[in-house]
Amino acid sequence: MRHPRILVFAGSTRGGSINARLAAAAVKELALADAEVTRISLADYPLPIYNGDLEDEHGVPEPAKRLVRHFLSHHGILVVTPEYNASIPALLKNTLDWMSRRGAAGQPYESPFRNRVFAISAATNGQFGGIRALMALRPILELGLGATVIPEQLALARAENGFGENGSLLDEHDAGSLRRVTTRLIEEAVRYTL
Ligand SMILES: Cc1cc2nc3c(=O)[nH]c(=O)nc-3n(C[C@H](O)[C@H](O)[C@H](O)COP(=O)(O)O)c2cc1C
Repeated sequence: MRHPRILVFAGSTRGGSINARLAAAAVKELALADAEVTRISLADYPLPIYNGDLEDEHGVPEPAKRLVRHFLSHHGILVVTPEYNASIPALLKNTLDWMSRRGAAGQPYESPFRNRVFAISAATNGQFGGIRALMALRPILELGLGATVIPEQLALARAENGFGENGSLLDEHDAGSLRRVTTRLIEEAVRYTL
């Protein structure tokens, strides 16, 4: 089997982020399954809040262009999002908004959201595991950005108690869900390596 390149990032830049921990657990799973994994932090891609005047004056900021290039060089993308007020954090939405601007890819325009496959997951300390954030993120990616998102997803509830010392998920059901996400993501990403 070919080894697809998978990019993983969390929609939180907080030190000790539970979503960053879930992203790290997914990276392990993906690497064990022989994917070539790149994990990035949005902290390394600082962006102003999107404003059309700013874009007209200065164009798309360099960090958004770098992110676009990262997406373009991978076959699969896993986004692990926190839930803020029943949706996704402004950080993640703002990042996707900047990346969706045509100038972000240079000319000719190549969408960083098409011709690759996406997976989404979430972690919260509450009992619903960020399911509402996932319900918000899926249509943004699919309807707004034209992405293909696999149906498998993990909404990790009570995440502060969910990780063992080695960073793996303690609950068997959650671990199984994460494995289904990473396995399907790899399967679908392989198609784009052909
Ligand atoms: C502005 C804000 C809104 C939040 N809204 C929700 C929410 O709707 N549902 C939920 O389960 N947790 C909510 N939380 C709690 C987050 O899930 C929690 O802070 C989590 O640790 C954030 O993810 P992180 O650890 O990856 O940074 C909210 C937190 C903040 C700061």
